[in-house]
Amino acid sequence: MEWGMKNRLAQLIKQDGRALFLPIDHGYFQGPTKRLEEPEKTIEPLLQYCDALFVTRGVLRAAIDPNNTKPIILRVSGGTSMVGKDLANEGITTSIEEALRLNASAVGISIFVGSDYEHQTLLNLARLVDEAERYGIPVMAVTAVGKELEKRSARYLALCCRIAAEIGARVVKTYWCDDGFEKVVRGCPVPVVMAGGPQVETEFEVFRFIHDGIQKGAIGVNLGRNIWQNDFPVAMIKAIRAIIHENATPEEARDLFESMKHEPLVSKA
Ligand code: 5RP
Repeated sequence: MEWGMKNRLAQLIKQDGRALFLPIDHGYFQGPTKRLEEPEKTIEPLLQYCDALFVTRGVLRAAIDPNNTKPIILRVSGGTSMVGKDLANEGITTSIEEALRLNASAVGISIFVGSDYEHQTLLNLARLVDEAERYGIPVMAVTAVGKELEKRSARYLALCCRIAAEIGARVVKTYWCDDGFEKVVRGCPVPVVMAGGPQVETEFEVFRFIHDGIQKGAIGVNLGRNIWQNDFPVAMIKAIRAIIHENATPEEARDLFESMKHEPLVSKA
């Protein structure tokens, strides 16, 4: 592996082999969704606790100080919306030159396996890998399910992750599942990070699945709404960080969350 590729991956995946990516990219198809109306306000208190931020170029330019040194994963696919015909009908929205200009550490793209746009989105991934590898930029493939959340079975997720890795993704984002998640990770020859999906009922559920997924081989998360839509997002990201980087149990994470949720926010400055 070339130095540039190795160095960028080392920025994203910490020395313990784990990673906490914070996605704030949802506006690219959801618009100003709940608690992401003003992305800079969502990002500012959380930035110091993540290992990398997953954003579009629009949010990067508008909401992130260029003096930022936190690695950026640039979302480079899109072209659909919540009110359009099919969320899966994505194309590549951002060139590799733009990713270089914006000093991205990686680029991220969705694939929609099993959808009417499977072929198109897999070829998008292939093209992006060809272009990004030329410059030593890792590609994170986002195995997306669109509105069909029920698709999150181990068999389906394993299929998506393996295909993404075979095409050349350096990291794959998928969903945790209750039954057989270890098979999803085992069948994927590159690191797997887990998304959270829509906000769930309790924080403990989130801590439990992240902990379980890591025991089964995931290296961490690319998890958004269950952090920044929580009433206590800083306590939430710190508790998740403890699971990922300090091997906290779900119970320890819950105790941390409870003890931190009313702490006043301390600005990084
Ligand atoms: C949205 C995405 C997100 O990056 C991914 O789904 C993780 O976010 P969440 O935990 O909120 O599901 O790809 O398009």
